[in-house]
Amino acid sequence: MKILEYQSLKKLNTFGIDVTAKYFVEFSSIEDIQEILSNPKFLNTKKLILGGGSNLLFTQNFDGLVLKNNLKGIKLIKEDADFYYVKSAAGEVWHDFVMHCIKNNYAGLENLSLIPGNVGASPMQNIGAYGVEIKDVFYELEAFSIADKTIRTFSKTECKFGYRESVFKHELKNKYIITSVTFKLLKNPKFNTSYGAIETELKAMGIIEKSIRTISKAVCNIRNSKLPNPAEIGNAGSFFKNPEVVRGKYEFLKTKYPNIVGYELENGNVKLAAGWLIEQTGWKGKTVGDAGVHKLQALVLVNYGNAKGNEIFDLSTKVLESVKEKFGVELEREVNII
Ligand code: FAD
Ligand code: EPU
Repeated sequence: MKILEYQSLKKLNTFGIDVTAKYFVEFSSIEDIQEILSNPKFLNTKKLILGGGSNLLFTQNFDGLVLKNNLKGIKLIKEDADFYYVKSAAGEVWHDFVMHCIKNNYAGLENLSLIPGNVGASPMQNIGAYGVEIKDVFYELEAFSIADKTIRTFSKTECKFGYRESVFKHELKNKYIITSVTFKLLKNPKFNTSYGAIETELKAMGIIEKSIRTISKAVCNIRNSKLPNPAEIGNAGSFFKNPEVVRGKYEFLKTKYPNIVGYELENGNVKLAAGWLIEQTGWKGKTVGDAGVHKLQALVLVNYGNAKGNEIFDLSTKVLESVKEKFGVELEREVNII
């Protein structure tokens, strides 16, 4: 394993922020992880596990060790009457894994097509899109404990999944390297097209009989029409989470803003569309230097060229403040600020 010093991370984060890592190493096996973590030089060095870099904002050079995950391999580990149990190494590209499952008729991931990043990061924030979250198809994961240097298996309950949340973003933050994730996928697909746009897109595609392939294609089409491609404009997807408010607050806002977009939750609260809130504050399409609020999706902050991480962060603070002032609603950042 080669340890690089002052390695540029510009091409390794989808915001395209031009920062360096003091130390940088790529690992391809558990032995590599053991070796690097046993190196006394790095014992007290701060560490960052890097996947596809699609949910990070670097606000400064990383003064520590970046460990880039390159663990590969996908395996059907068992099956029963109803399910396939498919284990993927953490360094597999998420969309390639989804495509592999679709090709083999393992159903359940089709709505999650085209989400950037690696399999290993998918449990971090319980990735979700178009009515499905990975917790719906998750079986277990394996993770390497940085302190004990042993592998531990986490069940679904132990991961404490929530909306864009897991235990790895909170009490176990920076304590484990996720090395593999196993999904429990259906033999007989149950199509989830509750997200209206999928039905509309399937119709536009002329699809009469649904399949996991056509749903995946519809999701890809919708995503391509809405979200900026990081290869063209730097971004990390939704910068903020959709905020949850109590019903009374929603009803109060609805009397003032009849078009407000909200979804009822099982707990009685309402999830508001942050994109709508931001658009109403006038930030949509605005830029401050090279940092901007995307013109088609106000929830996505973008780097039009050479924005610094701090400039994007400062813009996010301005957006947060405007939403708080207009609606009295607190937005929370989804992207990991480093
Ligand atoms: P990284 O950005 O590399 O890392 C994210 C965090 O996880 C960091 O804190 C990192 O240290 C940690 N981490 C990464 N790998 C590991 C590991 N193996 N072990 C321990 N910690 C680890 N997200 C959604 O949920 N739904 C969407 O629809 C969606 N759409 C997006 C669209 C675009 C255009 C973009 C750019 C992003 C989108 N995202 C979406 C966000 C992003 O794709 C996901 O959060 C993805 O899972 C991040 O994966 P990554 O490998 O790039 O993680
Ligand atoms: N909206 C606006 N203006 C905007 C953007 C959105 O009014 O500028 C309205 C839309 O018209 C719609 C509503 O807000 O009525 C929701 O918009 P959309 O369907 O585009 O979804 P979102 O809530 O903005 C969430 C996720 C996405 C995920 C999509 C599809 C979060 C934070 N974001 O976006 O996830 O792909 O739904 O399921 O939950 C991500 O996490 O990075 C991400 C992209």
